[in-house]
Amino acid sequence: HPVLKVGVLGSGTVGTQVVRLLGEQAEEFAARSGARLEVTGIAVRDLDALRDPAVPRELLTDDATAVATGNDLVVELIGGIEPARTLILAAFRAGASVVTGNKALIAAHGPELYAAAAAAGTDFYYEAAVAGAIPVVYALRESMAGDRVTSVLGIVNGTTNYILDEMSTKGLGFEEALAAAQALGYAEADPTADVDGLDAAAKCAIIASLAFHTRVGIDDVDVTGIRSITADDIREARASGCVLKLLAVAQRREDDHANGVSVRVHPALVPADHPLAGVHGAFNAVLVEAESAGRLMFYGQGAGGAPTASAVLSDVVAAAFHRIGGGQAPRELAYADLPILGPESA
Ligand code: NDP
Ligand code: HSE
Repeated sequence: HPVLKVGVLGSGTVGTQVVRLLGEQAEEFAARSGARLEVTGIAVRDLDALRDPAVPRELLTDDATAVATGNDLVVELIGGIEPARTLILAAFRAGASVVTGNKALIAAHGPELYAAAAAAGTDFYYEAAVAGAIPVVYALRESMAGDRVTSVLGIVNGTTNYILDEMSTKGLGFEEALAAAQALGYAEADPTADVDGLDAAAKCAIIASLAFHTRVGIDDVDVTGIRSITADDIREARASGCVLKLLAVAQRREDDHANGVSVRVHPALVPADHPLAGVHGAFNAVLVEAESAGRLMFYGQGAGGAPTASAVLSDVVAAAFHRIGGGQAPRELAYADLPILGPESA
């Protein structure tokens, strides 16, 4: 097999699992992608930190720019806007294909990143950015391309689902449940992004962009998080035969009152017999309604190192396969210019 050089930016919860699996399953990745994937560098902040033994120490570096610009494939798992944005743009300029799980960055700067990839003639993949292991980006972009999606309703943040579930089923306090979600690797580096609904809002923007072929950014999403939810709210929900869930909602409106897209994230009372009510722990579920297909449900682990690495590595295989074998790589979709409807249209 020809060799493709892989640079990994970040070796935290997800990056560590990506590096481990690329090492442990090297032969299988070569067979599936058509290329031997050789990790040449892993950029981190702290070279002295204690790390999983699966991460080769000799590959660690604090020169992230060198990793971004010296490889065929660059996997960005640092998170946040900067320096991730600058590094990804540098990677594109250097001709690399980029794989990321960084929904915050895509929801804020997606069009710029797509344009940079197109200008450089390279590819941009982000399956891990929405709902962890669940292949929802692929499903919306590719599998649903033959249908008109009318709505997407999802539990797309593992941390908040875990917190609400632990508060509801075990009677844990909010802070205690959040600390457990952080220890399990579900939360963002700054967990306010989870708790205040911003992580779900970024995913909602990506989902709506893919589902409705329109540009939706994080600022378009009307967001309420779970910070103010109390044990009493959870008890009252149960007493009324419901569970409290943080929902991401993306709807196409085409009626007498409105024409456009409505996007919002908020806690909601979900009846106990609804399919989303049984989504526990850090699992996610995405319910898609489309004109011809009717209702589809996608379900699986929405956060955590190995589940997210599964999605990242599917993109790595696709990127490698495309570089070696040709074929069609994902491109930014053609856009309908749909207006974003305000919260009053919900
Ligand atoms: P972590 O915080 O666990 O890891 C971040 C890594 O990036 C660390 O290794 C850190 O280095 C490194 N890093 C941070 N800043 C820099 C910098 N300036 N230069 C070089 N390296 C840097 O994050 P996660 O692994 O949890 O998440 C990574 C990405 O994946 C994020 O975009 C996140 O949103 C996304 N994601 C995460 C999921 C999850 O369940 N955790 C699920 C889906 C997506 P050091 O180790 O030295 O501190
Ligand atoms: N912090 C995110 C969550 C990680 O809890 O869902 C997965 O995107």
